[in-house]
Amino acid sequence: MSITPQLNFPQGMLAGQTAIITGAAQGIGAETAVILAREGCKIVIADLDAEKARKTAETINSSGGSAIVVAGDITNNEYLIHLVQRTVEFGEGKIHIIINNAGYAWDSPIENIQDKQWETIISLHNTAPFKLIRAAAPYFMLKDSEPRSIVNISSTSGIYGNAGQASYALAKAGLVGLTKTLAHEWGPEYGVRVNTVAFGAIKTRLTQAPKGEFVVRPDGTKHAVGFKGGYDEEDKWVGDIPLRRIGSPTDAGRAILAVVSPLFSYVTGQVAGGRGGM
Ligand SMILES: NC(=O)c1ccc[n+]([C@@H]2O[C@H](COP(=O)([O-])OP(=O)(O)OC[C@H]3O[C@@H](n4cnc5c(N)ncnc54)[C@H](O)[C@@H]3O)[C@@H](O)[C@H]2O)c1
Repeated sequence: MSITPQLNFPQGMLAGQTAIITGAAQGIGAETAVILAREGCKIVIADLDAEKARKTAETINSSGGSAIVVAGDITNNEYLIHLVQRTVEFGEGKIHIIINNAGYAWDSPIENIQDKQWETIISLHNTAPFKLIRAAAPYFMLKDSEPRSIVNISSTSGIYGNAGQASYALAKAGLVGLTKTLAHEWGPEYGVRVNTVAFGAIKTRLTQAPKGEFVVRPDGTKHAVGFKGGYDEEDKWVGDIPLRRIGSPTDAGRAILAVVSPLFSYVTGQVAGGRGGM
């Protein structure tokens, strides 16, 4: 064996692969799209926000990568079918990676949660990822030895719970069950790896102080993002984080890259922690 320095993946760790990343118009998803594209992966940006999605695609395409936008709402069944079809065309018949990332929280104490609030969050974080995976099943249940991987983005709220986030915590915990089950179902015959990355605090618009930004709910109504205080008093946040800092979207995107990369080729059914510690 030689230990001469060498390039292990001269074409990029994900050369020849095609990924769907939901919620990739901004935040964690957008940064993940850029990071995966840099490793040679073709990227399908699936997001409600067509304008921001186009900007992310432009960033990738203008730096030598390859990305398309398929804009739409992941809670819409027809959209998910269309998304899979467009990805297969773009990926020359193949899909290698799905990153179920789109989402937001709609928080209230348990006694105040309305049915619509509850159902929206479960449909966004659980039903939509499940339906996307199901729609893409024919492109994952294959015995051609190509690498295939699914990552479901969870949260520390789903692992430890978080006051005010019952629906979000339940949904994010549910993704862990979906992940482990799928790892059992598609691992043995098809070699598909399925993992979760559970983030703590990552600096995106979701977790900043409110700045008048919003996401659009499935029924077209707007949902304000950001929460009181945000990171204005950052010191209060970092006290129990072993690395003593809030994560950046780049930290998050790199963790996702690690999980889908060939470096994790024997890792499946796991929850990778993305919170700078335990
Ligand atoms: N930021 C954090 O601290 C943090 C921590 C833990 C988990 N997460 C999770 O990470 C994921 C990404 O969050 P972020 O912080 O990057 O948020 P973000 O608001 O910056 O980006 C989320 C993206 O999802 C899109 N989206 C929302 N609903 C959609 C729908 N129905 N269909 C299609 N696209 C939709 C939005 O348009 C937006 O572009 C979410 O699942 C979130 O729950 C974030």
